[in-house]
Amino acid sequence: MENKIKTIGVLTSGGDAPGMNAAIRAVVRTGAYYGVKVCGVMRGYNGLINGEIQDMSPRDVSEVLQRGGTCLMTARCKEFKTKEGVERACHIARVFGLDGLVVVGGDGSFRGAKDLSNAGVPTIAMPGTIDNDINCSEYTIGYDTCLNTVKDAVDKIRDTSASHERCTVIEVMGRNAGYIAVEAGIACGADVVLFPEKEYNFDEDVLRPILEAKSRGKKHAIVVVAEGIGGVVEMAKKIEEATGIESRATILGHIQRGGAPTVRDRLTASRMGAKCVELLLEGKANRIVCMQNGQIVDVDINEGLEMKKSIPQDMVDLIEKLTV
Ligand code: ADP
Ligand code: F6P
Repeated sequence: MENKIKTIGVLTSGGDAPGMNAAIRAVVRTGAYYGVKVCGVMRGYNGLINGEIQDMSPRDVSEVLQRGGTCLMTARCKEFKTKEGVERACHIARVFGLDGLVVVGGDGSFRGAKDLSNAGVPTIAMPGTIDNDINCSEYTIGYDTCLNTVKDAVDKIRDTSASHERCTVIEVMGRNAGYIAVEAGIACGADVVLFPEKEYNFDEDVLRPILEAKSRGKKHAIVVVAEGIGGVVEMAKKIEEATGIESRATILGHIQRGGAPTVRDRLTASRMGAKCVELLLEGKANRIVCMQNGQIVDVDINEGLEMKKSIPQDMVDLIEKLTV
């Protein structure tokens, strides 16, 4: 493989996701495999602007594969959204001799990666977010771990909800996307699943299934609501008033971002991390490494950001079938 690239950087940006450490490890170790120096950039784009950059050896990423969070820390960086911020980051990248950069994050971080590439730092991005909302990729690192965390939490809530014969309305994360709500809702046997990609009517889509179940003798219910819909406290009150079933609301919150990554997240992060390094070594830049039909591929960052993705219709249909 041609090797004009001598030093590369890696950073994690935006909300953390389980598996980011596995991605960092893959970048560092793949770099070492090809004889490339790898530097860790701390705190996302902040670290690039402030020069918080350190050499990383394969040993520096021992024992991180199984850990949630990110050993490089992560942040949201307002300054980087300005022209001056990008120019400063480019200057620091040159000072540290970075010939290329790998960015692990969500679509906001990808827009930053694009700006960096256009300003002269060859950058490759890979999807690390629990939301699974990267349009060009059918999967994002952290999603599977998050789903399993939600599954564990909802199973526990179900125990108490059933014992008290209550309806529990549970809010899950996902920003503006409903992937977590839909797939966790199916996996947890929720009676109602609400997500932003599909409009809902409170009487028809919430009250009716709960009341129908009640008339069949079922006295408890689980309602999973994506944060993009929100309002779970008010919704629980309205359900209690209309059905007479005592109701509670639970917002799962940041527990969904933590924990040891699942095998799927470790594998995907490892495969994508290695691919990012190889693309840089091939002289590529401004690309997103993503998953399509189970394969790790790369797409142009502009095209990737413009692609559209929707909740698979079979999943939406499945919710209807299983909550009949
Ligand atoms: P995520 O990457 O998870 O979507 P954010 O949207 O918070 O998270 O973005 C992370 C960081 O990426 C921001 O703090 C900012 O530094 C950078 N970023 C976000 N949007 C843009 C943009 N439109 N242009 C340049 N940089 C951006
Ligand atoms: O993008 C990941 C995510 O956890 C979203 O699901 C959520 O909307 C957001 O980040 C929360 O961000 P913060 O950590 O700033 O509260």
